[in-house]
Amino acid sequence: MRNLIDPFDFTVEETEGILNLAKEIIANPENYSEKCKGKILATLFFEASTRTRLSFESAMYRLGGNVLGFSDASNSAVAKGETLGDTIQTVSKYSDIIAMRHPKEGSALVATKVSGVPIINAGDGGHQHPTQTLTDLLTIISKKGKLDGLTIGLVGDLKFGRTIHSLIKSMSRYPNNKFILVSPEELKVPEYITNDLREKNIEFVETQDLDAVKGEMDILYMTRVQRERFFNEDDYIRLKDTFILTPEKLEGLKEDMIILHPLPRVNEIHKSVDSDKRAVYFEQVEYGKFVRMALILTLLEIA
Ligand code: NCD
Repeated sequence: MRNLIDPFDFTVEETEGILNLAKEIIANPENYSEKCKGKILATLFFEASTRTRLSFESAMYRLGGNVLGFSDASNSAVAKGETLGDTIQTVSKYSDIIAMRHPKEGSALVATKVSGVPIINAGDGGHQHPTQTLTDLLTIISKKGKLDGLTIGLVGDLKFGRTIHSLIKSMSRYPNNKFILVSPEELKVPEYITNDLREKNIEFVETQDLDAVKGEMDILYMTRVQRERFFNEDDYIRLKDTFILTPEKLEGLKEDMIILHPLPRVNEIHKSVDSDKRAVYFEQVEYGKFVRMALILTLLEIA
């Protein structure tokens, strides 16, 4: 039985298989509308979500399957003190596959130890978010035609941003990618990530000066400062508006680059940027649904 806890749970070839399946679903959705008939997806969200949970649910309905779960653990037996392990054991008796989000790093991995059905990590604290990365990869391949030889700018909260951690991990497997890591000093990517890049001889720079480096980027991946992971509200307030993309700031960006954001945005991209042809973050949202359809089919081993 396969799970998706970390981007490396799938090889490059398997990842390509999921992306290709997603493209095939986009081209011929009618061929997939009954593939999951009789199957049940459980969505267990112990943390806030709009896109990830609803795209999973939409994906399962579009495959002809059904969905159960909770979006607020305070309405579940967790509020009575039930452990994660007991919750997962129970829900795996009611469903064929589980997508879960939890504030604790490593929680999805723990769930795999007791689950009788595949587990999908829909975000574990400030650690990993592999299905957002599949979404990002599908967006990049669709818009740029390749996953290698790209200069990828990652901006914002690189310390707590789990989408950042998973995306760097995944994109570092394709040749000749270069990373430009733009953040305040306090929100730099964790050292284990830069150590890993160094070990693999992958080119990267760390800077606080977005204007100085933006002209090189093929991809500008903006992120929100992750308020819920801060210990101190004053630090959050001080750092939250460090980088704000406005139409004036687009000056100097390559014509054929793309701007991504996992969403939700707070202040970091001004609404008036949305109409720029390079701003593709709402298209990215839709790719997220298709790639999750492909992922569900893959983990359920439905051809
Ligand atoms: C991200 C997350 O939950 O990590 N959102 C998402 O899944 N699209 C990013 C965020 O919350 O900032």
